[in-house]
Amino acid sequence: MRDATHPTSLDYHPLVEHFLSLPARDRFLRFGQLLSAADICAVVDTILRDPANALLVREPSPDLAGVAHVEFQGEVALLGLSVATWARSLGIGSRLLCEAAHLALQRGVTVLCVRNLSRNPELCRLGRRLGFCVACDTEFFAQRERPRGAIRERPDRRSPPPIALADPDLPWPFESPVGIASREDESPRPGAF
Ligand SMILES: CC(C)(COP(=O)(O)OP(=O)(O)OC[C@H]1O[C@@H](n2cnc3c(N)ncnc32)[C@H](O)[C@@H]1OP(=O)(O)O)[C@@H](O)C(=O)NCCC(=O)NCCS
Repeated sequence: MRDATHPTSLDYHPLVEHFLSLPARDRFLRFGQLLSAADICAVVDTILRDPANALLVREPSPDLAGVAHVEFQGEVALLGLSVATWARSLGIGSRLLCEAAHLALQRGVTVLCVRNLSRNPELCRLGRRLGFCVACDTEFFAQRERPRGAIRERPDRRSPPPIALADPDLPWPFESPVGIASREDESPRPGAF
């Protein structure tokens, strides 16, 4: 499998094509809603404005097999991840998820918010299999246990870092969705963006 790389302006059309080729359910899971083509172009503009926070797997080049983007809003990190239907079950999603988690960790963020995570059993399973803490259901929150990342810190960028995936749309009983950077006096609701 090719390595994940950051996008350049040359990736504008491949990115738009990648997102437009996703089936409706996948687009809903990726963006949190069914975006129009114009909205998708706007998302690609956003990704290309901040390429350091995006990762692509080109396979076979120049087609995009997978795209990950971490959007930082203050202390909150929102993950967008998609793998082309023809490239699934090859480990590309796992690779990009681990790389995205490392991007978040570099900024001191230990919880990645994923829209519709509680409606996405595939991603929940993938996250758990990789060793991530997955906070996506009311049962998890009923334990009143703050989501934390995996205990082991592994230096390999392809391995899961100590980070959690969380659904920002569930009632959040904790002071902040952010791990080590949280402050006691604020109660930001993830997903308010
Ligand atoms: C969720 C998603 C990103 C997963 O991508 P993927 O590339 O298929 O993920 P992986 O290949 O790493 O893992 C998927 C499965 O393939 C298996 N797999 C991984 N590597 C494999 C390999 N080399 N050979 C065979 N199977 C493999 C994994 O064990 C996993 O199995 P599981 O479903 O039992 O957990 C993809 O389905 C997707 O884009 N969905 C739509 C958008 C979305 O839901 N985005 C997430 C929210 S932003």
